[in-house]
Amino acid sequence: MPGAVIVGTQWGDEGKGRFTDYLAKEASLCVRYQGGHNAGHTLVVDGEVFKLQLVPSGILYPWVVPVIGNGVVVDPAVLLKELEMLDGRGIETRRLRLSGNAHLIMPYHQELDRLNERYLGNAKLGTTKRGIGPAYADKAMRVGLRVQDLFDPKIFREKLDLALREKNGVLTKVYNRLPVDADELAKQYLDLAPRLEPLVDDTVHLVHEALDAQQWVLFEGAQATFLDLDHGTYPFVTSSNPVSGAVCAGAGAGPRDLERIVGVVKAYTTRVGAGPFPAELPEGDEVGDLLVDRGAEFGTNTKRRRRTGWLDLVMVKHASRLNTCSELAITKLDVLSPLAELKVCVGYLGEDGTRYDHVPYHQSIIHKVKPIYETFPGWQSDIERAERLDDLPPEAREYVRFIEDYTGVHVSFVSVGPARDQTVVLPRAA
Ligand code: GDP
Ligand code: IMO
Ligand code: MG
Repeated sequence: MPGAVIVGTQWGDEGKGRFTDYLAKEASLCVRYQGGHNAGHTLVVDGEVFKLQLVPSGILYPWVVPVIGNGVVVDPAVLLKELEMLDGRGIETRRLRLSGNAHLIMPYHQELDRLNERYLGNAKLGTTKRGIGPAYADKAMRVGLRVQDLFDPKIFREKLDLALREKNGVLTKVYNRLPVDADELAKQYLDLAPRLEPLVDDTVHLVHEALDAQQWVLFEGAQATFLDLDHGTYPFVTSSNPVSGAVCAGAGAGPRDLERIVGVVKAYTTRVGAGPFPAELPEGDEVGDLLVDRGAEFGTNTKRRRRTGWLDLVMVKHASRLNTCSELAITKLDVLSPLAELKVCVGYLGEDGTRYDHVPYHQSIIHKVKPIYETFPGWQSDIERAERLDDLPPEAREYVRFIEDYTGVHVSFVSVGPARDQTVVLPRAA
């Protein structure tokens, strides 16, 4: 069996976790390939809610091996706490495999993340303040510490001293903060090593062993296409590459190993943090408030209210291309149920009257475009119990069909509530 990727097509929180959980049933490995604990993935199974940040969403099936790949940045204390939480709820977590090549998030990364944001003032990005940007910056600068370094105290200390030479200079001289104490920090991290050691593995090897054995390997994206460092709305992005192609670098699979690429699309759009959002509803808008209330649109992680807007298909189509989506999964269709009328963004109008049917690459254009909408009738009935396509009202089917037509990508799944079983499977037309 090939590799399959679950990737967000908007600005995150589309429901990647719930679809990873749904599809992982058939998999042998479930692999995170980028991001860190800036992610918040929510799974609802038999009335129980699981909120995950670092642990892959396949963890709930005892036969699935959850893998944290080399492309992830790991705060070891956060990982251990999450594993403890899961163990406490009866989920066996010793199966988890952690790449020795994954980079560590250090406390100074988190402090620098907070300070960078403060110093940016009005230009701040609205990061999750988890140290993600500074940790990836150190990886690119080749002064990062990796999981494997935890098991060689001498090397760990040498690398830490080297990193702190620059970090302490910046903290004290640029930001007027206290320097980091190397002894204390080394002890704090090395004390965690014995608990992490049994989890550490050559995860690239594991991925290829599974692929060679014709087993299904599921790669779980965090963040999403428009938060991608290269393809998102830079600089209002995260510091990794969530797009499907990044599975190759972040988990060590090859491009030809990826066959199924599932783009997850929320039935409307949300965004947390700053940055352009063409189809955004103005603050105080009734529809926006309804989406926040019914969709519980508050960050899993930071509890921030998410910004809301109509479904933007210009973005979703672009994301389908960037990720070469083989199919789409639409989430939260139930949230739209009370609305009499639905709008879908099908193009943008630039300040100078230019019409765009693709996402303009230039920042000053994307910041100023206005959405061009097509209007659809709502269904105004409950759909939470729908099990098959035929159970959905004709207006809901039309909405889904329009997404397929516009993007040219088959919609395989529609979810009508947060629970695992609130998933409608749409067969491909023969
Ligand atoms: P992720 O980061 O992409 O995994 O998404 P999050 O878990 O951060 O956000 C998605 C939220 O929507 C979670 O609270 C889910 O429980 C919830 N959710 C997912 N699918 C559905 C759905 O079909 N309907 C409703 N009402 N909620 C959903
Ligand atoms: P999941 O996996 C939504 C956003 C932050 C901020 C920007 C940069 O749950 O979809 P960072 O801390 O990564 O440097 O912040 O990215 N962001 C997310 N928004 N869902 C996420 O993850 C996000 N992870 C980061 O709000 O705008
Ligand atoms: Mg999330």
